[in-house]
Amino acid sequence: MSSIAAFVDGPFWYFSLTVFVVGVLWRLIGLLSMRGNKELSQPRDSATGGVIHSVLSRFIPVAGSQSRIRVRTVASYLFHIGLFLILIFGAPHVAFYESRMLGFGWTPMPQWLFFLVSAIAFLGLIVLWLHRIMYPVTRSVTTASDHIATGLVFWVMLTGCMALGESSEFLRVLHLFMAELLLLYFPFSSLMHAFYWHVARAHTGAHYGRRGVKV
Ligand code: HEM
Repeated sequence: MSSIAAFVDGPFWYFSLTVFVVGVLWRLIGLLSMRGNKELSQPRDSATGGVIHSVLSRFIPVAGSQSRIRVRTVASYLFHIGLFLILIFGAPHVAFYESRMLGFGWTPMPQWLFFLVSAIAFLGLIVLWLHRIMYPVTRSVTTASDHIATGLVFWVMLTGCMALGESSEFLRVLHLFMAELLLLYFPFSSLMHAFYWHVARAHTGAHYGRRGVKV
């Protein structure tokens, strides 16, 4: 094994994993320990009901907004569900968790399904990116950091698709290296929405729920 591969497989992996875990915990603790204004008014309805409603109902987009963002909604579901399945049930990933992280594994998805889901998720990401830069509203709120985050996910997925044959040591190391860069960038980027989304929905839901607003 070359010294670069040994570095990517060893110290750089542990470094990026540590930055990811500590960074995510740091930001989550920071968010959850923020104190809002004290509520002085009498509650008109249940904050808990608002939380449950907001967290669950927002999986389905508001009807009036659909005509312009239907493509993005579909692509977003394909991408997120696909990536989740790839990471949790892709055979090479399960093997990695077992041998390098957890000491145990579980039944992975069959190879044909891994290939299919990879292609669908990758397509979903590309459609999302195109929609982001072509649709004026999303383009106007997109920052350089969003492009870097999307670009890193793109390269991790592209190198993952290139390594599907599992016959090239170079492609394996390249894919692992891109995944490590993604882990390093994750806590400092909008990718944190993976951990924040339900907190944000719950906060808004509690705010409206307490005031009896039906949305
Ligand atoms: C379309 C998405 C993806 C595909 C198709 C894919 C595919 C693969 C394949 C085929 C391998 C085995 C390579 C080999 O042994 O030669 C692999 C390993 C790996 N992948 Fe992915 N992957 C994807 C996304 C990701 C993501 C998003 C991450 C993490 C952020 C990730 C992290 C890893 C890691 C850590 C390994 C283990 C590398 C090793 O064995 O040293 N992959 N992936």
